[in-house]
Amino acid sequence: MDHTKTFFLDGQEIPFKEGQTVFDAAMAAGVYIPHLCHNPDYEPHSSCRLCTVIVNGRPFAACTQPAVAGQMIQNDTPELREMRRTLTQMLFVEGNHYCPTCEKSGHCKLQATAYDLGLQDNHFPQFFPKREVDASHPDFVLDRDRCILCGHCVRVSRDVDRKCVFAMTHRGIKTEIVVDSPTGLLKDSRLTMEDEAANVCPVGALMPKRKGFQVPIGERPYDKAPIRVDSVKNFRI
Ligand code: SF4
Ligand code: SF4
Ligand code: FES
Repeated sequence: MDHTKTFFLDGQEIPFKEGQTVFDAAMAAGVYIPHLCHNPDYEPHSSCRLCTVIVNGRPFAACTQPAVAGQMIQNDTPELREMRRTLTQMLFVEGNHYCPTCEKSGHCKLQATAYDLGLQDNHFPQFFPKREVDASHPDFVLDRDRCILCGHCVRVSRDVDRKCVFAMTHRGIKTEIVVDSPTGLLKDSRLTMEDEAANVCPVGALMPKRKGFQVPIGERPYDKAPIRVDSVKNFRI
């Protein structure tokens, strides 16, 4: 592996190989960049903008930005932290998130990111959108109240499972996940326990049934390490 080229992230020299993104190189070097819509196991699609960094004075999504030798990049600045806080607060108010009653609590990327960014409240007025919960499937529940529209289920069902069970419909605040089945319900779709898409949701939106609160408090991933430590430790490319 050729690690001779480097760029600078908040003044720290980061090695990279040709074709690597700023995100991948930084995380491989142990530097955390906040992210929600990117799962390093799959192609990035840069929708959440949480990983925005400043390259030569301009904002770019680190998960899709190719690393270039010698570049000076900012990641951890007061302005970027504030922008990430705002984006995260917006995700909370445009859904219906009640963490104490959510079985994803303690291993939810949205919740862990909020803790990492020091969110004390939602800041913006709550939208209280009306969103359908689909509990029709024997093995899964789709709680659209908690969906952050990261698109993982859509892309993984299409590109890995080759089933296209999920899609996004509408635009703006009306965007939501829909299910490809004759009735529009999960029970009539081709989703099975073996599907990779069934296990890819970073929040508590697409959840397996009969496994709620299986891991006790204190043993959940983000009880043991904050997301910035956990995601760097478990990062692989
Ligand atoms: Fe909280 Fe995450 Fe559940 Fe939303 S999905 S209620 S942020 S634990
Ligand atoms: Fe992402 Fe989960 Fe919503 Fe699918 S259901 S778009 S994986 S948050
Ligand atoms: Fe890069 Fe979402 S993680 S845009």
